[in-house]
Formats: sequence, C-alpha cells, structure tokens
Amino acid sequence: MFSKQTQSSTVSGRRNPVASFHGDGEKGGPQQSQIHDLGGVRQPTPVDFGAPPSFKTQHPFGDFKMTKDSLAPSRLAMVPFVSVDSMMKIVNTIGAARVISEIAEYVEADFLRWDQFDKTPRVASHSQEGVIELMPTSDGETYGFKYVNGHPANMARGFQTVTAFGVLARVDNGYPVLLSEMTILTALRTAATSAIAAKHLAPKDSRVMAMIGNGAQCEFQALAFQEVVGVETVRLYDVDPAATEKAVRNLQGSGLEVIACSSSQQAVDGAQIITTCTADKQCATILTDNMVGAGIHINAIGGDCPGKTELHRDILLRSQIFVEYPPQTRIEGEIQQLAKDHPVTELWQVIAGKSAGRASDNQITLFDSVGFATEDFSALRYVRDQLEGTGHYIELDMLADPDDPRDLFGMVSRAKG
Ligand SMILES: NC(=O)c1ccc[n+]([C@@H]2O[C@H](COP(=O)([O-])OP(=O)(O)OC[C@H]3O[C@@H](n4cnc5c(N)ncnc54)[C@H](O)[C@@H]3O)[C@@H](O)[C@H]2O)c1
Repeated sequence: MFSKQTQSSTVSGRRNPVASFHGDGEKGGPQQSQIHDLGGVRQPTPVDFGAPPSFKTQHPFGDFKMTKDSLAPSRLAMVPFVSVDSMMKIVNTIGAARVISEIAEYVEADFLRWDQFDKTPRVASHSQEGVIELMPTSDGETYGFKYVNGHPANMARGFQTVTAFGVLARVDNGYPVLLSEMTILTALRTAATSAIAAKHLAPKDSRVMAMIGNGAQCEFQALAFQEVVGVETVRLYDVDPAATEKAVRNLQGSGLEVIACSSSQQAVDGAQIITTCTADKQCATILTDNMVGAGIHINAIGGDCPGKTELHRDILLRSQIFVEYPPQTRIEGEIQQLAKDHPVTELWQVIAGKSAGRASDNQITLFDSVGFATEDFSALRYVRDQLEGTGHYIELDMLADPDDPRDLFGMVSRAKG
C-alpha cells in the first residue's frame, strides 16, 4: 500500500543515521524507537526554530539532531521526494478528480491570503526553441519555487512540451522540506486554477465546454471543469486528430459526454465555456472574433510567453479580462497584445469578493491564464499534506549535515574512510 523507500549512502563523518527503513507497508517515517536502537546514538533532540509554522512545513517526522560517528545520513539530511511514480500513486490513491478539487481548495485558500505572499514575475530564460522559467514565492513561513519549461516543438521530437519540478523550504532555517516532480502537478494545478476562475466567472449553469488543444493538459482540464464547475459535455478539437482520439479514450468512463469535433468552429458550437490549451511558439489565432458569441467564458491557458498567444486581439477588446498577477501577465499573457494600462481584474480580488466577476449574462469573461507561483506553492503544499497519509514518497539524502555544522570539509575528508 505504501511506497516509501529510503535512499541513503554509506558515508562516514556525518550525523548519525536514521534507521534503515525500507518501509513498504510502513506508514509515515521511521519510528523513534528505531532511531533509539542504533548503536551509540544519542536520543534525538528537537531543534528549536521558534514557533511552529501554522501548517506543516517541518519534516513530517519531526526534526532530529543527532551525534556523529555514523555511516549514513541523519534525519536532517533527508528530504522527502515525490517522484513521478509517487505522484501517480498519490493521484490514483485519492482519485484524479478529487485531487484536482482539493488542490483547487488550496489554491483558492492561498488566493484569499494574497497579501501574505512575496510576488514577482517569473524569471524566464528564452531561447529559439522555448523557455525555461523559475517561479518563486514565499508566505513568510514557507518558501517555494518551481522549475518549468515550455518547448512547443518538443512534442514532435518525442518530448513533453512542459516538464517541471519544485521545492518547498522552511523560511526560518532555509532547509528544504519537500522536493517534488511537478509535470503532473502542474497539469493538476493549472486545471484546478482554471476551474476556480470559471466557477467565479462562467455563466451560471454552464454545462458544455469546448477544448481546443488536446495535449497533455486536456484531460486534467476536462475533469476539473466536471468536478468543480459542473460541466457535463466536452467538445474536443486538435489539429492533430491523434491527440483528440487519445483524449476521447482517456475520458471514457469519466461520466463526461465527450464529442470529437473536426474544427475549432464546430467545437465551440453550443459551448458556454471555451478552453484553449494549444502550444505554438507564435502569436496564433486559435479563436477569431466571429467564433465567440455573447455570454461566453474563455479559459485561455496556452498563451503564456512573450510572442505566444492564442486569441485574436478583437476578442480581448470585447472581453472583461481576469488575470493572476498583472506584472507577469502583461508580459506573457494574451494582454501582451493590448496597451500596458488596459484594465484587467485580478482573480484573487474576485475570489475575495473585492471585485465583481461576471457583470451580465451577455458579457464575455476571459481568464488570461499564464500560471503563477502561488498556485504551484498551493499545489506543493497539498502534496506535502498527503505524504503522511499515503506514504507515497522517497527519502533523498539531499542536505549535507555534518555533525559540527562548521566542519563540512572534515565530513568530506572522513568519508574517505
Ligand atoms: N497557463 C498555465 O498555467 C499553463 C500551464 C501548463 C501549460 N500551459 C500551456 O498550455 C499549452 C498546452 O500545454 P500541453 O502541455 O497540453 O501541450 P501539448 O504540446 O501536450 O499539447 C498542445 C496541443 O495543441 C495542439 N495544437 C497546436 N496548435 C493547434 C491549433 N492551431 N489548433 C488546435 N490544436 C493545436 C497540438 O497538436 C497539441 O496536441 C502550452 O502552450 C503550455 O505552455 C499553460
């Protein structure tokens, strides 16, 4: 049932080891009694870093500072790592739709405390092929960042368009408390965020969604809208029919009515919500003005880089536009096509009841999504909270932790044996 494993080395001169606990079927981490059983090891002493954070940022099994003369990493050296395998197990244990709706709750909760977060546009390194980005934030107790790439040409070369991993760390001592894959988690959190936006902005009783672009994000989006918004029918279109076939296959048994369409125009017919999630490193026109009638909500997630957009500018001029963090979206989102001072509403303000959402049945609402660091922070926080219950993680020997904190060199030297 549980998949926890410990990856440790046999290096000397480090803090005393944690017990060897290859604990398939073992919930949580090493029992303290196991640690006590180690020869010559002092009883673990809790490290005092002051008041505990309000939610779990500490090591799931507590902090232990121990003595020297060991052959294996100490408790403090170990960082829980959620591999792709572990993430898949977490998702399949809990259920994909439930994970998305629970992440949506975390994302929403963090939007509600927007002022507490350090916010900065992500740091992007552009190349001809794509972009590599770092997305940091902190709420003062916990720091998080995601590494993510976006390479639209990757798919044709047999690679993912988007891959990612991320970290949570304690602000009070800087120690990482979680390292996680985030390729799957990004799809989950993007879908969760899209669904939150639609819950607040889409026409009431929206039941039909068009999905243009049926790649890696597609099914996650479909499930999110089913679970959080109540969508019953998805109308799929992709320039590559194989992508649509894949999505139809994957959504079988979801309870959604899934309709494969032969054009974007056909896909948007009768839809109250239009999701665009295509990947192309150019200003594309996935939707033209004539395709978008009154009273539609557009969830535009594929335009997320300078020079990479999906919507015709005229649609933007007819829409009430909602964004995550304006300084980032003005660089990366659909609104890069508009004047720098074009009015936009921040999504968190709608969620917090500080700004109006949809003003009328006829309005076109546009969520110009690019993905913001707090959403990744929320998703990592969610994963962190699932570790103890599911046991799906690996322990990585990630932090050098000499018995004397100043004797880093000595630790390396003694490791020679
Ligand atoms: N806003 C966010 O938070 C966020 C998060 C993740 C990904 N994204 C973006 O979402 C987009 C989709 O990501 P993905 O991982 O699903 O990519 P993907 O490469 O797996 O899928 C993209 C799909 O779009 C299709 N496509 C390309 N041009 C099209 C067109 N003109 N009409 C219809 N279909 C077209 C491709 O055939 C492909 O199947 C990417 O641009 C990515 O950068 C945004």
